[in-house]
Amino acid sequence: MSSILVVYATKSGCTFGVAERIGAALASKGAQVDVVSVEDAPDPADYDGVVVGSGIRVGQWHAAAKEWVTANAAALKARPTAFYVACMTMAAEPEKIEEVRAYSDPIIEESGVKPVDIGLFAGWFEPKKFNLVERAVLKALKTPQGDYRDWDAIEAWAEEVAPKLGA
Ligand SMILES: Cc1cc2nc3c(=O)[nH]c(=O)nc-3n(C[C@H](O)[C@H](O)[C@H](O)COP(=O)(O)O)c2cc1C
Repeated sequence: MSSILVVYATKSGCTFGVAERIGAALASKGAQVDVVSVEDAPDPADYDGVVVGSGIRVGQWHAAAKEWVTANAAALKARPTAFYVACMTMAAEPEKIEEVRAYSDPIIEESGVKPVDIGLFAGWFEPKKFNLVERAVLKALKTPQGDYRDWDAIEAWAEEVAPKLGA
């Protein structure tokens, strides 16, 4: 049985929910899966494959996710690693998919980790999950409110990426 680490960085909880769903889909393919926050500093060397997910703030991965990938780059390069992001551009302006794909370019360049795939998912703008400043930014951007996570798309991606991770 292969072992897969799903590691995530979230501020509002959105990306954690996506990680749990990806983990469940990979487990249903027979993998032994751990879903762990980057804050808990998991060691990717303990796993056959890795999925790293981050929410997006102003076009960037969360700093904690970037730092974890950079710190663990050697181990990530040595095993299949997939990335995913959860963001509101995928909900409000899905035609800007290339812009969303490019959110991961700096981390790929900085770390040298080449993901086997990048899942691009709509996230949420649930006002009660964000602070005043965050709400003001999203409102100024005319971001629609609601939970736009597409569970079918998330599960389909996880099932597609599973064989690339050895699941
Ligand atoms: C201050 C702020 C900036 C954001 N910037 C972007 C952005 O540049 N592009 C985007 O697609 N989504 C952006 N978002 C939306 C978040 O990525 C989205 O709400 C996501 O679901 C948050 O997930 P997380 O809290 O798990 O990180 C922004 C949200 C906030 C609060």
